[in-house]
Amino acid sequence: MSKNLSALSFRKGVEKNVFERMVDAADKAGTAEKNDVVHQMGQDHLFGDAITLGAVSFYDFLKKENEGKKVFVCNGSACLCAGTQDKLHHTLETHFKKEEIGHICCLGRCHEGGALQYQGKNYSGQSDEALGELVKTGEGDSEDRYAVVSHLQPPQLTAEFPGIDAYYAPFKQLITEGNRDALGVELKESGLRGRGGAGFPLHFKWSSCRAAEGAVKYIVCNADEGDPGAYIDKYLMEKQPHSVLLGMMVAGWFAGAENGILYIRAEYPDSVTIINEAIEDLRAAGLLGQNILGTGFNFMLKSIKGAGAYICGEETALLASLEGQRPEVRTRPPFPTIEGLFRKPTIVNNVETLSNIHAILTLGGKGYAQIGTPKSTGPKLLSLDSHFVRPGIYEVAMGTPLQTVIDLAGGFKTRIKALQIGGPLGGIVPMSHVGKLTIDFESFKYEGFMKGHAGVVSIPESMPMIEYIQHLFQFTADESCGKCFPCRLGSTRGKELIAKARSDSSYKIDRELITDLLDTMEQTSLCALGGGVPLPIKNALEHFGDELNSYFKA
Ligand SMILES: Cc1cc2nc3c(=O)[nH]c(=O)nc-3n(C[C@H](O)[C@H](O)[C@H](O)COP(=O)(O)O)c2cc1C
Ligand code: SF4
Repeated sequence: MSKNLSALSFRKGVEKNVFERMVDAADKAGTAEKNDVVHQMGQDHLFGDAITLGAVSFYDFLKKENEGKKVFVCNGSACLCAGTQDKLHHTLETHFKKEEIGHICCLGRCHEGGALQYQGKNYSGQSDEALGELVKTGEGDSEDRYAVVSHLQPPQLTAEFPGIDAYYAPFKQLITEGNRDALGVELKESGLRGRGGAGFPLHFKWSSCRAAEGAVKYIVCNADEGDPGAYIDKYLMEKQPHSVLLGMMVAGWFAGAENGILYIRAEYPDSVTIINEAIEDLRAAGLLGQNILGTGFNFMLKSIKGAGAYICGEETALLASLEGQRPEVRTRPPFPTIEGLFRKPTIVNNVETLSNIHAILTLGGKGYAQIGTPKSTGPKLLSLDSHFVRPGIYEVAMGTPLQTVIDLAGGFKTRIKALQIGGPLGGIVPMSHVGKLTIDFESFKYEGFMKGHAGVVSIPESMPMIEYIQHLFQFTADESCGKCFPCRLGSTRGKELIAKARSDSSYKIDRELITDLLDTMEQTSLCALGGGVPLPIKNALEHFGDELNSYFKA
């Protein structure tokens, strides 16, 4: 990512953000890939056309191929496993021309097992009649209904919101009476680790940004939850928006940042609306702006909507996106806490991570660390897909057996052979291994899987494992940012090998070749997209060999 381009983007700051203008332009025109629009946006930022066009053409929502599309069918892993996509597509073909139907990944309605986006709103895969009515009148039931269950008592992340005054009381106390060093101690004692996937210690990240030199710093909330099968962050933004905002405000106060930005994926239009309303409520309550509560603390919050790119969940690609540059992953160091948004010190945290801050303020660091295990502290949310009897959001203490979560949800509606936990880069857990796992970072790693963000996709017995791993390669090939060749080429070659073996029974995949391919991706990719997808594929090869053997050379 070019330093010069970051500096040019910084000139206009977050208020007249070039990326936001691209998305607005696309919303109005159907695509931002119109030269005059792109040219004008580039001119304002002193970017050349190639820079802006290079960025615009990256995103699904801004792409020319999607111009004229009227309805988008969710093609995420959970909908694939629910087997609803073909039927939904056929029904839509009775209302739309083929070329008007696009795909989108994923709408976070994994609990319904079928979803679509129409006129900027999300709907569950509906009955034929309801769909007909929706197309005819533009009106339909877009309500998102799922169970919210806490195994943890009292609940922390799923507790009922008591209103702004009560909820922000510990925050007010912190900024009027507290001191930053003392908060640093609480954060360290809490042991909170990032929920975005990698489990990075929060106190380390925040302290690094606090110590970084520079008058301008940023807090960025990573609300790009791109893992198909996950709707944890969606739940928090839509049902508990203040938990996220409070976490960002505490981060701003601690690190000395005056601006907080939520990068929210466009596939979640309701999240954008609800977060914006919550920001307005905070402003009205006098908790945003200059000199908050007379403490000298200034803080502003703003949401920016994404435009359809899984890689924008990777933190350096997300920052490039916010700067209006092509969202390619960048090498670290420097880490974002030293050189982040516009090359200024920046904390990037996941939605769920930030939502844990309220519990640390109220319970104290040590009290918080009483929940969970010594190495994986605190509460954790899981999102369960439509194969569960009671799909929804489940709050548990870290360390809770996976089987307990399954039992809480009433088990499965159909026969399931494996669970993919943690998104497309998470492990594929055969049902025989469920009893060995507890919901924490260590247990999954020890057993050869990865907990990741903990969206759960059930793979039914009826789903051929070869089809599922082809889907994973396809997903990676579609979403690769293209910066490093092991991922860019490896994912495409992997997809081709599997497609060929599926379509031509005389063709068998060379085991050495696929092992080399997976090892190369794992060991040499720049980020965890190319580096992570070999794990579930290796899990499948190891645990479902009997089913997969016929596609491979003996
Ligand atoms: C391909 C890829 C996709 C990612 N997607 C997300 C995402 O959607 N949300 C998220 O919070 N983190 C995502 N991450 C992890 C982020 O890069 C980063 O580690 C995280 O936002 C840090 O926040 P945390 O410390 O609170 O977990 C992704 C990483 C990779 C490699
Ligand atoms: S692994 Fe894939 S997504 Fe990550 S930097 Fe390389 S090409 Fe980009």
